[in-house]
Amino acid sequence: MDFLGGTTYEHMSELAATRIIDVIKNKPDCTIALPTGSSPIGVLEKLVEEYKQDRISYKNLKVFSIDEYVALPKDNEQSYYYFLNEYFYKHVDIQSENTFVPDVFSNLEMESRKYEHKITIEGEFDLILLGIGHDGHIGFNEPADKLQLYCHVENLDYKTIEANARFFDTLDEVPKQALTLGIRTILMAKKIILIASGKSKAKVIKQLFETKELDPQFPASFLHLHRDVTIICDQDAMSEIGVGK
Ligand code: GLP
Repeated sequence: MDFLGGTTYEHMSELAATRIIDVIKNKPDCTIALPTGSSPIGVLEKLVEEYKQDRISYKNLKVFSIDEYVALPKDNEQSYYYFLNEYFYKHVDIQSENTFVPDVFSNLEMESRKYEHKITIEGEFDLILLGIGHDGHIGFNEPADKLQLYCHVENLDYKTIEANARFFDTLDEVPKQALTLGIRTILMAKKIILIASGKSKAKVIKQLFETKELDPQFPASFLHLHRDVTIICDQDAMSEIGVGK
């Protein structure tokens, strides 16, 4: 696992975007998975900028959402599909049939299997970009006694609901469940990039850096099993590495 420290959020975004653009330029019809949240906005803006400067086309790119809230329609401003459309899809030449999101209104167990199957058919991800929760969750794989290998529905922890409430008017409006890629689905990606910014992520990044164990209570620890993971942080998120050892 490589740790790469940028200075600012802008710099972190630049470092991550450059790597993603390289993958897409080398394989224009590649399949990638993208997260939502505050962390990836800068990266997505850079991907859009590259397109606007006529330096890349996303015509053959396939993108899967990493997770989606249960029962939020695609046109709900808080849905993860809406987010990716707002910050990426609608600004570039990606074809809508190449953007994938689970149908969170159907039979969820069946939909989880279908989503996993679709990813397998596409040959798994060439690259996955991840954020990280304060408790070490990746996608929506929350700390638990056991982690799920495949796409599944997750009951969100109170802390996660609280953290994500900033995007909603009230805490009650935050969905309590989400459909997410499983740990295996994530680890099958050929390349993994995880981004983190801000002081509030410093503790979790320190834990990821120092851990010598696979701990289902710290889902990000499973990323250590992968041979091509780059953790890209800004200075604040990196600030506790090496402190208090
Ligand atoms: C949510 C998402 C994750 C994301 C995490 C961190 O829970 N399901 O995919 O990585 O939040 O979000 P942020 O980047 O806003 O801190």
